[in-house]
Amino acid sequence: MAIVKRTRWDSRTAFVLAAIGSAIGLGNIWRFPYICYKYGGGAFLIPYFVALLTAGIPLLILEFAIGHRMEGSAPLSFAKISKKTEWLGWFALLIGFGIVCYYAVIMAWSAKYLISSFTLAWGADTKTFFFSKVLNISGGVFEIGRPQGWIVLALFFCWICIVLATWKGIKTVGKVVYVTVTLPWVLLIIFVIRGLTLPGAIDGIRYFLTPNFKALANLEVWHAAYSQIFFTLTVGFGVMIAYASFLPRKSDIVNNALIISLSNCATSYIAGFAVFSTLGYYAHISGTTVANVMKSGPELAFVTYPTIINHLPLAPLFGVFFFLMLLTLGIDSAFSLTEAIVAGVRDKFRWSQKATNITIAGIAFVVGLIFTTRAGLYWLDIVDHFMNNFGLFIVGFLEAIFIGYIFGADKLRKYANNLSELSVGRWWDLIIRYFVPIVSLVLLIWTLKDRLLKPYGGYSRLAEFLGGWLVIIIFVIISILLSIKGKREV
Ligand code: PHE
Repeated sequence: MAIVKRTRWDSRTAFVLAAIGSAIGLGNIWRFPYICYKYGGGAFLIPYFVALLTAGIPLLILEFAIGHRMEGSAPLSFAKISKKTEWLGWFALLIGFGIVCYYAVIMAWSAKYLISSFTLAWGADTKTFFFSKVLNISGGVFEIGRPQGWIVLALFFCWICIVLATWKGIKTVGKVVYVTVTLPWVLLIIFVIRGLTLPGAIDGIRYFLTPNFKALANLEVWHAAYSQIFFTLTVGFGVMIAYASFLPRKSDIVNNALIISLSNCATSYIAGFAVFSTLGYYAHISGTTVANVMKSGPELAFVTYPTIINHLPLAPLFGVFFFLMLLTLGIDSAFSLTEAIVAGVRDKFRWSQKATNITIAGIAFVVGLIFTTRAGLYWLDIVDHFMNNFGLFIVGFLEAIFIGYIFGADKLRKYANNLSELSVGRWWDLIIRYFVPIVSLVLLIWTLKDRLLKPYGGYSRLAEFLGGWLVIIIFVIISILLSIKGKREV
């Protein structure tokens, strides 16, 4: 029984928006469109929706239901299932912590670019600007150098924003999300309209959506679909568990999960139109094909987009819009991860909201400094790979096993159904007990096999160990220590 009365969301809308804000992030803009194009175009929507229905939505229902049922952050919820499973809650939060440390750095770059937009400071050679001027990137992963002053400054600024957005916990979050969810949507629509009215746009869209049904026979496509779904819905980081723990006792679970996941996936789809129409235009003006200009991740946002912006009428305005969109897309994902950790620490140690908030943000800021060094991008790349490919699937796998077999899938389903406007059938139990564990295990083994054959991204084995395996091992140890430590009243 919690001693302190748990704060609650002001309204259902606040909760739904916060969860949507967490789900919608940079991945919707720079990951989904690219993956869709690469793995079968329009045909990719089939594995994507299958993954959504057979893993994404069921896991989201699971996380909402368990957080609500136990009225606790991830560690407390798992501790209430069994003292032996508490560590998984901490592990999920630590994976989220690993991510937010570098996610905030990407936001820092976006903040820097937002300012550069006013004068189009990146000039014509956007590649040199990003890699040499902004990142001052070194020749290799061990040539670390010093943290770059201005990135540190921008990072500090981003952390201040995150701390402020979570200042009074969900009371503040519930207000901030009205802006951080709707503003990027409005900006995205502006980019879709702008993109579609540019010459060459249709060629871009064709690349994005022309279906290649043969691709569906390729297992890699299914792998990509399931990975993207896990990542995009922000399940497996304890965020959705914590957010649901703040719901009033009478709250819908199933319908909320549907609304949130469908809004997220629709946003990704619409983002595809914004990205590909603009790329079509870029290919058109440079007399090449869309395939030649297609990039994903940081290069798309910080090299390709600035080049395209240079060619648009009212360039500075679109620059400001674009980077403001990235910042507002990212910030609610970043503060959801932070708030999930804060809630976990508070549930266990009973610290005050503000002290916990500042401590966690402070630690994440300091850890994040590694990503502001001259080798920052390399380390970011390695850590990102391990958090999202190993951390995430380990959590997905164990979460399904612990709920499916220890707590009881049927028990949790009945709990959710009693509260919800829509009910889920017995198929949900089967998915949680058998399907999700199998899929996550296959994804894990698949990536593990790749890693055993060759180190990630051509880095050395040592770098891979330090930025990947070691981090995971340390997280497991810390999780176990935290779960052993102290007694809590459950
Ligand atoms: N789901 C968000 C995205 O697609 C980001 C995110 C991923 C947030 C992982 C937290 C953890 O970008």
